[in-house]
Amino acid sequence: MHITTIDSEDLPTNTSNNEHFQAVVNRAVNRRGFLKTGGGLAAAGFLGGPLAGCANFAKSSGPLMGFESIAASSADTITIAKGYTATPFVPWGTPLFSSGAGSRWKGDGSESAADQARQVGDNHDGMHFFPIDGKSNNEGLLVMNHEYTTVEKGKYITLFGLPPAAADSLERVNKAMQAWGGSIIHIRKDSAGKWAVVLDSKYNRRITADTPMAISGPAAGHSLLKTKADPSGKHVLGMLNNCGNGFTPWGTYLTCEENFNSNFGTTIEPKVDGRTPAQKRYGITAGLSEYGWETRHDRFDYKKEPNESNRFGWIVEIDPFAPESAPVKRTALGRFKHESAAWNFTADKRVVIYMGDDQANDYVYKFVSDKAYVEGNKASNQGLLDSGKLYVASFNDGNTKGDFMGTGEWLLLDKEANPVLKADPSFPDQASVLIHARMAADKLGATKMDRPEWVSVHPGTGEVYGTMTNNTSRSVTDDVNPRAKNAYGQIVRWREAGNNAAATTFEWDIFVLAGNPTVEANKGNLNTGSANINAVNTFNSPDGLAFDRFGRLWIQTDGKYSNSGAFAGQGNNTLLCADPVTKEIRRFMVGPKECEVTGFAFSPDGKTMFVNIQHPGEGGTGASSWPDGGKAMPRSATVIITKNDGGVIGS
Ligand code: FEO
Ligand code: CA
Ligand code: CA
Repeated sequence: MHITTIDSEDLPTNTSNNEHFQAVVNRAVNRRGFLKTGGGLAAAGFLGGPLAGCANFAKSSGPLMGFESIAASSADTITIAKGYTATPFVPWGTPLFSSGAGSRWKGDGSESAADQARQVGDNHDGMHFFPIDGKSNNEGLLVMNHEYTTVEKGKYITLFGLPPAAADSLERVNKAMQAWGGSIIHIRKDSAGKWAVVLDSKYNRRITADTPMAISGPAAGHSLLKTKADPSGKHVLGMLNNCGNGFTPWGTYLTCEENFNSNFGTTIEPKVDGRTPAQKRYGITAGLSEYGWETRHDRFDYKKEPNESNRFGWIVEIDPFAPESAPVKRTALGRFKHESAAWNFTADKRVVIYMGDDQANDYVYKFVSDKAYVEGNKASNQGLLDSGKLYVASFNDGNTKGDFMGTGEWLLLDKEANPVLKADPSFPDQASVLIHARMAADKLGATKMDRPEWVSVHPGTGEVYGTMTNNTSRSVTDDVNPRAKNAYGQIVRWREAGNNAAATTFEWDIFVLAGNPTVEANKGNLNTGSANINAVNTFNSPDGLAFDRFGRLWIQTDGKYSNSGAFAGQGNNTLLCADPVTKEIRRFMVGPKECEVTGFAFSPDGKTMFVNIQHPGEGGTGASSWPDGGKAMPRSATVIITKNDGGVIGS
């Protein structure tokens, strides 16, 4: 999400008295004092043997990280580790079809809504590569999110070309709606080994803010999901703010609706604050939205159609190999500002999905399916996400048995089984618990986190890592709290009790406390970062996070790129790599100016890595012309990374 002004995620909407994670950390730091002692803390978790879900784990031959860390950079280009090549691919506006609307990128943003509907969308984000036959390294479906279109002060930065312009007509609003959502792109290596779009493939597909989709699971058909256009409460047009992603072991894509609140506003005068408590808790702001869709489509007006926003904020499952299939919003996984979705199996093959809710002071969740995965039965497996238990995390500072800092508990968000919710008339049924998951979690005393972004499961150990990107808006009066304004963020990890992904207790640790060891030196606080932060790898705002199948942890940032003040020496947003055992972190790639680095996909052999560059030049001041260069508008795009010797990326 853009950060030239305050992100909507920066402002807390959580008014509960629940404890903040920082308070838990502070007590643990004081008790154990080991944040500054660095490596060697992780070994125990890695001796327990692989979990049931780890069949794909491949042990790396040689050292886990075989490249030299690179320096930070503020250049308007991709800077990458020695021995690697980065090639821009499928930027915004890339045609997916060889004839008809949108079959040519004009270069000046003058495409119509109809053109945009057949071209790659804007602001690339979460992503996954599905090999065409389940194993190909040379052909597959690249599926990605298009989170939003960049707007500053009500003007779309590049969507209508330069200079920036407002969506001041129905056609322009409709074009914006077609630039959001996702793309399914059939790609193949040509005879020269170069990746290209397979134009006109039956799989090529845009999913946008008005693609028909289904609502399934326990909340489908609930009165809170019914609108004038959909009295059934089971059909919705579009998905919004698709940020991070996940995928399933049965070959589907999970896309996560995040800041959907920003698409809702009202045109009704006088502009009194007519929002419900739930609309406020989910971050809808009073009056007109920056995007202006409510001026042309009543469903985005929160006063005219108060339930429409309840139909967003879900995890959406898409079957990329079934081009005619409708995407499905899975309500059993709860409604919040979903960042990503990381799966694991229990020993009996039930599927577990870990999820973050990206807002200052919001929570970490997990879902455990009722039924077990059945190898090869896609239809049965797709139903797994429709019934199960949803939990929210409480991070405590209890004594651990081993090397981790604290203990934790998964609190059950179930109307019948949880006495707190059972006794609460504001949740008449389980559907209302799921639709208002944040408010139910408030009641259970979940721990307030520093903006939970991506989550990833180590393929060999089942330990779960989650980025807490930052929390600059939090004011803390307790002066023993050294990260009152957390500008840098941290990565937390946890280990489920008994290595059982369905366990209701866990132990947690801080993997890295990001910081700036140069600027913050000698101030006597934790802003220098943990011991695995140094002057070369210093970064802020960890966001994207993914293990590759060899157990390397890849970290992407969506942070401040001023390269000055608290962020001096950190350069543009970046891609880092970490060894989860030694905790060492190296900088692998740096993005162009004013971009976010986000989204991961790997070929099965690990020799092609896809990474997204979102909103280069987001400020609209001409700082970037990446990837086209010269006088061209900057465009979000994918980057294909290969190792010059043909080896595995990172090795
Ligand atoms: Fe879209 Fe929380 O990042
Ligand atoms: Ca993100
Ligand atoms: Ca972010």
